Amino acid sequence: MSFKDKVVIVTGGNAGIGATTAEEFAKEGAKVVIVGRNQENLNKVQKSCEDLGATVLSIKADITKDEEAKSVIDQTVDKFGKIDVLVNNAGLLKKVGILDADYMQAYDVTMNLNMRALALLTNLAAPHIVKTKGNIVNISSIAGSYVGLSHYSTYKLSKAAVDHFTRCIALELAPHGVRVNAVSPGPVPTDIFETAGLRGAIDVLKCATALNKSAETKEVADIILFLASDKAASVTGSNYTVDNGMLLK
Ligand SMILES: NC(=O)c1ccc[n+]([C@@H]2O[C@H](COP(=O)([O-])OP(=O)(O)OC[C@H]3O[C@@H](n4cnc5c(N)ncnc54)[C@H](OP(=O)(O)O)[C@@H]3O)[C@@H](O)[C@H]2O)c1
Repeated sequence: MSFKDKVVIVTGGNAGIGATTAEEFAKEGAKVVIVGRNQENLNKVQKSCEDLGATVLSIKADITKDEEAKSVIDQTVDKFGKIDVLVNNAGLLKKVGILDADYMQAYDVTMNLNMRALALLTNLAAPHIVKTKGNIVNISSIAGSYVGLSHYSTYKLSKAAVDHFTRCIALELAPHGVRVNAVSPGPVPTDIFETAGLRGAIDVLKCATALNKSAETKEVADIILFLASDKAASVTGSNYTVDNGMLLK
């Protein structure tokens, strides 16, 4: 699965699933663009990708800000001259209930990153990806179709929107030879829970899966790389679940 000389952007490439994905693309010869706000994490992942032999462009950006999102695409094209793959991975989780006074604040923050920034980057990158006949992988979640577990409606809505956006844009870009797919993980131990103030959540979620375990970030990255590769040349508009059977229960 070689990505030799392919230019791959991974939003949220400085932590969790995105960091492992950037490293896996690096192993396969890609030129990797990692995007996030935390400079220290960007430096760490830049080094690990460079140690694997990759050329790396590290961009400190808050992609919920239109100008910073635009600068991600501009800097990538300035440095590498093209974009082959966009992995829309950056995302956040918030626990909030409809009876809470700050529900709409959580709604806006969640939708702004999980859906709006993803749509914005897709909009900005698509003309370049049409030129290379590349592809897009959106990181959704089984939360997009899972109703169990109360007080996560803003996150679930954002991921349901990502799922439908993936299908709609796959149809629109198909005549241009561009594929668009989604990956929907179940529980994966990353900082997303800690950041949301949900320490210990991963253990609860593990027990809710059929296989009684969580997935490693590498297992999600493997599916992302498969979808981004020529091996998936006939796959578009799909949504690959990697949830240890959580949706079965
Ligand atoms: N972990 C799970 O169990 C799980 C399950 C299903 C789906 N997912 C999805 O997988 C994706 C990755 O999540 P993860 O688990 O790897 O979480 P994570 O470790 O918390 O990583 C989130 C990433 O998003 C970046 N990010 C957050 N806000 C940003 C912003 N405004 N601008 C740019 N980058 C931003 C973060 O970097 P900075 O903080 O430096 O900006 C970080 O790199 C998300 O879309 C998540 O919804 C995760």
